[in-house]
Amino acid sequence: GYRGETDIQRAADYFFIIKNSYGANCRTFGLLAKDLIKASEYLSQVSLRLKKTIIENIDFERLVKLYDRTGALFYADPPYYGSEKNYTCEFSQDDHLRLHQVLSEIKGRFILSYNDCEYIRDLYKCYRIIEIERSNSLINKFKVEKYKELVIKNF
Ligand SMILES: C[S@@+](CC[C@H](N)C(=O)[O-])C[C@H]1O[C@@H](n2cnc3c(N)ncnc32)[C@H](O)[C@@H]1O
Repeated sequence: GYRGETDIQRAADYFFIIKNSYGANCRTFGLLAKDLIKASEYLSQVSLRLKKTIIENIDFERLVKLYDRTGALFYADPPYYGSEKNYTCEFSQDDHLRLHQVLSEIKGRFILSYNDCEYIRDLYKCYRIIEIERSNSLINKFKVEKYKELVIKNF
């Protein structure tokens, strides 16, 4: 195996890195000690929740077309508009437009979250747009800083 570790050892290492990295980004590490025993107890809840879950790793367009039907509900959480560079993946201007196109054609319902900006407000102006504010705990846990987001729905 990888570096002579078993799959179980690798899984434990991965869990440790996720739990101890800043916002679970696996790259930068936080200051606070974590109770990993507590965290590992939480894993059994996670495993129960995931029992009836299918995880796909495919482009949103294929995924939406695959699962769309009357009664389907999609929650989409794309990279923020204008801050795509913060993600390890590529998400282009075209992808934002393509997402809009795909969501406009579905039989089911969607809930979409974005950062609050003019471009997205304009793109989705035909839908219900709800403004929300959340505290940006990943940027500063100890300051009450508000971050404006949009929740957009087709119902
Ligand atoms: C804001 S994050 C979503 C975070 C997620 N809600 C969570 O809690 O972990 C945006 C995600 O979009 C994914 N993404 C990027 N391009 C995509 C594509 N073409 N199709 C589907 N997902 C994509 C990225 O991998 C990234 O994880």
